[in-house]
Amino acid sequence: MTIVLLGYRGSGKTTVGRVVAAKLGVEFVDTDALVQMRAGKSIREIFEQQGEPAFRDLESAVLEDVVRWTDDRVIATGGGIVLRESNRELLSRSGAYRYYLKAPAEVLFERIHADASTAATRPALTKLGGGIEEIQQLLAQREPLYESVKTRSIDVTAIPPEVVAKMILAEVATDSGRCFPGGS
Ligand code: S3P
Repeated sequence: MTIVLLGYRGSGKTTVGRVVAAKLGVEFVDTDALVQMRAGKSIREIFEQQGEPAFRDLESAVLEDVVRWTDDRVIATGGGIVLRESNRELLSRSGAYRYYLKAPAEVLFERIHADASTAATRPALTKLGGGIEEIQQLLAQREPLYESVKTRSIDVTAIPPEVVAKMILAEVATDSGRCFPGGS
């Protein structure tokens, strides 16, 4: 089974993904990490040196590969992966569980700015400089796209990552008739 996590920066995709993968005993894959590994540089450097379209090409190529792998895995995706229609189609046709981790702009802003690595590793996404206006603007554009691709949305505003992970594990276990330690 494949589990894909979708959502804006700061929604907890990586943290939740690691917990779910560990409980299931399957591989955890992060599309951003694979892009960086293949490019041999950070995402911020790719944006600065080659531009966002080059990053999006690398991201689409990584996504094409990871959805084709046949072993069970959990995939955390970059927040902008839904921007390309071809990526959305690939995800929708993948048969994977696709969770949209949802939160209002104010909550995402606080979480992003509580993360010390943000400034050093994450590129600016618009000329608005990463403030609340940027998040509001991009969320307005992306929310319908996340919604169109997801199989389930989880509002993560008031729920810690461990509990989000348990909700995902419970659904997956119910569907597959499996039981995971700590998963319910
Ligand atoms: C992006 C989000 C990032 C990364 C890149 C672009 C975006 O991933 O893919 O910086 O467009 O929102 P995270 O959502 O994991 O931070």
